[in-house]
Amino acid sequence: MKNKILMATVFAFSVTTLPLVAGESLPATGKAPLASYLRPHAVPAPEDNKPTAVRVELGKALFFDPRLSGSNTISCATCHNPAFGWSDGLPTGVGHGMKPLTRATPTILNTAYNAILMWDGRKKSLEDQALGPIEADVEMNQDIPGLLKKLDALEGYRDLFKKAYPGEGISPATVAKAIASFERTIVSTDSPFDRWARGDQKAVTADVKRGFAVFEGKGNCTACHQGFNFTDYGFHNIGVKDVGDKPDEGRYTQRKLPSLKGAFKTPTLRDVALTAPYMRNGLYKTLEEVVDHYDRGGDLKENLSANIKPLNLDPQEKADLVAFMKSLTGRPVSVTIPLLPMH
Ligand code: HEC
Ligand code: HEC
Repeated sequence: MKNKILMATVFAFSVTTLPLVAGESLPATGKAPLASYLRPHAVPAPEDNKPTAVRVELGKALFFDPRLSGSNTISCATCHNPAFGWSDGLPTGVGHGMKPLTRATPTILNTAYNAILMWDGRKKSLEDQALGPIEADVEMNQDIPGLLKKLDALEGYRDLFKKAYPGEGISPATVAKAIASFERTIVSTDSPFDRWARGDQKAVTADVKRGFAVFEGKGNCTACHQGFNFTDYGFHNIGVKDVGDKPDEGRYTQRKLPSLKGAFKTPTLRDVALTAPYMRNGLYKTLEEVVDHYDRGGDLKENLSANIKPLNLDPQEKADLVAFMKSLTGRPVSVTIPLLPMH
């Protein structure tokens, strides 16, 4: 019962975390009640796509099916691989023809809660996002009419679509809705930090507790990494160096506000120990390198967020911050790879 009350409070908190458009206007929040870091139990879903078991089953098959790509070799799970915390362990994704992409593959963990998606925020919902990578020539390079034909030729898929979306057929909309329904099942599980947040003093070691104090205090991390998902869903320029010769303008490519030049979406820190390398371009291999980045106040100074300043952390504080971030790793989940329709 106590837990239910906590959940309700947390949900109210998360509703106020609306997507930020102008990015930099967020006030530093500093300390928040520990319970506000617990994931709301209810997973949001749009009215016209409430998850059902068969929708999730269909979406899972599509997510793991390499035939969603033009070459029949790349699935969503090639890049969003459960064995790498739903990312790929690479600095940037590798797409069609083994060509590296320019940005890192984010985890799809907790994306059900995201009010805005992609490093530059160009997608509004999981449904809105799902067909993008299929069609993109650099990613899966599969035209949608061709994909619908491939799926319609397989009795197994025809059946699943009929059961999942009766009367709606195999369409771009139902493909996207099914994939989104599966993604909504990928949510963070109980981590040592959560057990501590619920009152178990022994769930984490002293370095984690100290690290959390640095996170909320001297480190100023909660200016942007807030709430249960450790993100404000806002966009900020934190002074990360570009890799390659062309600077990535991030959110500015979508909204031409000067303050958004070089600003990227604040990523979740849930399961962050599993999703190295870090940053939109995979610049850092370890969490220690990330902490050093913040400690020196970032590298590029042009349009840098006012919340990024040298922190003067001592070696103990840095190690504690890393220990805290590692405590956000949930219980391991076992993922059964689905058998795919063969005819
Ligand atoms: C070749 C690798 C690759 C494949 C294949 C791929 N993705 Fe991604 N995914 C990425 C990269 C890279 C990004 C970030 C791109 C950006 O922000 O510009 C991304 C972003 C996303 C996001 C946004 C996450 C967030 O937090 O903003 C979702 C959701 C997602 N992909 C789902 C999918 C689905 C569903 C499929 C299959 C239909 C898929 N991806 C296929 C590499 C890939
Ligand atoms: C001004 C907002 C802001 C502040 C303050 C901030 N972050 Fe971030 N954080 C971001 C953004 C935005 C990114 C992605 C930036 C990019 O790739 O260019 C990020 C990336 C990260 C990543 C990489 C995650 C991944 O999946 O790639 C980690 C880890 C991280 N931050 C931890 C911290 C810690 C620890 C602190 C405090 C010392 C902190 N952040 C302070 C906004 C912020």
